[in-house]
Amino acid sequence: MLERTLSIVKPDAVRRGATGEILQRFESAGLSIIALKKLRMSEELARGFYAVHRERPFYGDLVKFMCSGPVVVSVLQGAEAIAKNRALMGPTDSTQAPPGTIRGDFGTDIEQNAVHGSDGPETARAEIAYFFNASEILAPCEA
Ligand code: RTP
Ligand code: MG
Repeated sequence: MLERTLSIVKPDAVRRGATGEILQRFESAGLSIIALKKLRMSEELARGFYAVHRERPFYGDLVKFMCSGPVVVSVLQGAEAIAKNRALMGPTDSTQAPPGTIRGDFGTDIEQNAVHGSDGPETARAEIAYFFNASEILAPCEA
């Protein structure tokens, strides 16, 4: 099924100059980048984005990490884009992520794990709308 998903290249991966290589992996896997921006998340933006984790012990550290430098946010479109992106990313904990996955190659640990990807169709819709206006996303005929 043709899907859209939200991707974030997190501050650790942007800092190490891996943005281009990570975006290349999406395109090589057949995912089209239909929206793209680089920004520095405010604490408020990061808190809202990860609100689902607000009761977790790692929430404060996670918010601080996500605000620690610029991120590159994109909308990826393609067949089974949500699962495909999660497969390219690898497991949450970078130390458990195999070589060849984005987290295995560019992540450091369970927190500094290089990328975010939506985990389902509902979260994808909400997360895309959290970062992009409709006018900032290419129409299917333009992608
Ligand atoms: P994401 O939402 O960023 O794509 O990652 P995910 O689904 O694989 O992981 P999730 O459980 O949603 O956790 C969100 C992010 O929180 C940080 N984290 N830290 N210190 C910890 O135990 C811990 N656990 C998770 C990671 O940055 C993770 O991606
Ligand atoms: Mg998640």
